[in-house]
Amino acid sequence: MAVIIICRGEDPEGWKAALETELPDLKFRVWPHDAGPAEDIDIAVVWQPPPGVLATFPRLRAVLSLGAGVEHVLDDPGLPHEVPVIRLIDPGLRSAMVEFVTMEVLRHHRQESAYRLQQSRREWNLLHQPLAPSRHVGILGLGYLGRACAESLRNLGFRVSGWSASPKSIEGIGTYAGDQELFPLVERSDILVCLLPLTAETEDIIDATLLGAMPRGATLINAGRGRHVVEADLLDALDSGQLSHATLDVFREEPLPEDHPFWQHPGITLFPHAAAWALPEDASSILAGSIRQILAGESVPGGVDRRRGY
Ligand code: NAP
Ligand code: GLV
Repeated sequence: MAVIIICRGEDPEGWKAALETELPDLKFRVWPHDAGPAEDIDIAVVWQPPPGVLATFPRLRAVLSLGAGVEHVLDDPGLPHEVPVIRLIDPGLRSAMVEFVTMEVLRHHRQESAYRLQQSRREWNLLHQPLAPSRHVGILGLGYLGRACAESLRNLGFRVSGWSASPKSIEGIGTYAGDQELFPLVERSDILVCLLPLTAETEDIIDATLLGAMPRGATLINAGRGRHVVEADLLDALDSGQLSHATLDVFREEPLPEDHPFWQHPGITLFPHAAAWALPEDASSILAGSIRQILAGESVPGGVDRRRGY
């Protein structure tokens, strides 16, 4: 019985050491150099596993994502149908996302880019500054992360609304649900934050039509996935002044290619998928709890509905 750690672009040894501390009686292996016999593997802990690798473990009982998103697992056409996929529900990651979204909303609200531009020109000029209650923030995705961000912004005084698949009721937050209610939310969002999972329904959701429906001069913050955004439509919206600014943390191709127009665009603030990551020292106890539950045959929080895609 063993757990295999497969992660691209992350330090697998850090996760292995942290998980061994939590579960000293269990064998942990690291793919590919220390994978051992494939038939030993019961559970895979993964970030962006190469397509086809998970299908090589004949006794696999569960796949645990090292992130909140799971499209990096579900995109694998060889993923065995019957194996449950579990997304990470990590309060540390959630706090990091709340920090990131709050920081960017406040930066846009307080016109930080305009002040930096003025500084570069040695201009001393006070800009008109509305208060938070006159600024409407819309959040696409009211799940584990979106809801916490919405509540943090509500507590700062912003007018906050959120959009989800199923109806919700959250104190002090306007709630919208389903395809019919997407545009009523978008049309009133001075700042629109995307915290959706990437699914067949949400891919390319931020396109020319959606951007055109936002109030002129609005701002976008995308911390969901790059494939939510139609890049050419975003550039058009920025160049025409329909959008005044976009903060992008995630991209269709990561790392962002060196010659990509986003790098130099004056209307884009860019982060290298840095908004929120699970840390071994925090999240290994959560993963260990899930591993214990799976081995005991119990149900585990964060089970993904493969049909919905999240
Ligand atoms: P979650 O708890 O599963 O929440 C997803 C939310 O999206 C739910 O409110 C869900 O509605 C809504 N939703 C899904 N499909 C929809 C649709 N077609 N129409 C309307 N609403 C829809 O996920 P989470 O933990 O909050 O994470 C969200 C995403 O953030 C992840 O999937 C990942 O892509 C991204 N993320 C990014 C970073 C980063 O560093 N940039 C870090 C972590 C996560 P219901 O509530 O009705 O189901
Ligand atoms: C990071 O992007 C995650 O999905 O946790």
